[in-house]
Amino acid sequence: MMTQKMSAGGFPLDPIETASVDELRALQLERLKWSIAHAYNNVKHFRVKCDEKGVAPGDLKSLGDIRLFPFTAKGDLRETYPFGMFAVPRDRVVRIHASSGTTGKPTVVGYTSKDIDTWAALVARSIRAAGARPGDIVHVSYGYGLFTGGLGAHYGAEKLGLTVVPFGGGQTERQVMLMNDFRPDIIMVTPSYMLAIADEFERQGMDPRDTSIRIGIFGAEPWTNEMRREIEQRCAMSAVDIYGLSEVMGPGVANECIETQDGPTIWEDHFYPEIVDPISGEPVPDGEAGELVFTSLTKEALPIIRYRTRDLTRLLPGSARTMRRMEKITGRSDDMMIIRGVNVFPSQIEELLLKRPELSPHYVCELTRSGPMDELTVRVELKPEIGSHDRASAAGAEAALAQSIKSYIGVSARIIAEQPGAIARSMGKAQRVIDRRK
Ligand code: DLL
Repeated sequence: MMTQKMSAGGFPLDPIETASVDELRALQLERLKWSIAHAYNNVKHFRVKCDEKGVAPGDLKSLGDIRLFPFTAKGDLRETYPFGMFAVPRDRVVRIHASSGTTGKPTVVGYTSKDIDTWAALVARSIRAAGARPGDIVHVSYGYGLFTGGLGAHYGAEKLGLTVVPFGGGQTERQVMLMNDFRPDIIMVTPSYMLAIADEFERQGMDPRDTSIRIGIFGAEPWTNEMRREIEQRCAMSAVDIYGLSEVMGPGVANECIETQDGPTIWEDHFYPEIVDPISGEPVPDGEAGELVFTSLTKEALPIIRYRTRDLTRLLPGSARTMRRMEKITGRSDDMMIIRGVNVFPSQIEELLLKRPELSPHYVCELTRSGPMDELTVRVELKPEIGSHDRASAAGAEAALAQSIKSYIGVSARIIAEQPGAIARSMGKAQRVIDRRK
């Protein structure tokens, strides 16, 4: 008899999580054939794009043939707004979510009842990978509503049989009170909002290290390994990375395993990943950096073929599971600042500022233009213990950070060390770049 493999916290794993690579590839090919045919037969927009390229589902003989098919981008979802990319009749769609899109119409996604079950199962797998134990209480601070974070986390935690506290974002003072009273084991929240919650614990005279929380499952925005260390130390918890995007499903497309904490494992039995050169769109080999592209393998309502995520990363071999991992996202091509010709991501700044003992991880990058020149200002908060009384340390930190940004990234930046509390807190995704050049 085969012995059942267990997660770190004592839940049985899905057999595919530890199957052989050959078994995984065979399953992917079978599912990919289905998914491409399903999209081709039921989504006119996709069929027209395939026809223009002269490619049909029958051309897919191996996984590598995926590159014959056209990409899908956010623009395709916009063009077919709201339901034009759905591959099932509208009355089979049991749930709609939408991106918060700051300009124009949002991106709309839909799920059949089976899609909701798959999603819940994958978020359950993610929470299990993060080290959940039977009986754990999960406090969800991702926003509920059209954003996929809250409901996605919620259904997954319930599916795993855990106790869910569906708090959502905001009302930070009250979140802290309930955390003290309910004593959750796990929190699911954006890393930036976790910091705001930790601040609130301190404001109320408590040490965030004394909470009952053992594990934080953080995602929905880029965060560095330096931020991971900062949160783990400050809150005495393990910080695990959860990745996802609404167009592909929502949270739980990939999740880090607590055993290794070495980048999210992609749930490849449901999503086929590729990395492409962001400019040419040419696929690059595993291990090389580029833009992450996903094809859904099992989704019914919204099959998505070769979706350009704009997230930049690399594919890495499996470690705690058979499936490949992705390196922690270093940035989105949308967030890339070009300062006098140098490409700069907020995560690079974050990495450097967290090396300074005087500075806290609350920061924002502002872009302005004086004449023809782009200028970068980094506004970052001082740690509370430095605060207003120690102008010399503040000036020292400003100079040191400017110096390290110049030498490691190669751009000049003006640093403003602000008083604790001066940078607006996010209750969801933090906005790291403010462009005042327009
Ligand atoms: O943010 C889904 C989600 C909710 C993921 C909760 C994790 C936790 P969207 O609003 O569609 O969906 O935004 C997707 O957020 O393309 C990335 O740029 C970014 N993102 C999500 N997770 C991570 C992560 C949700 N772990 C976009 N690290 C993605 C870095 C992330 N960036």
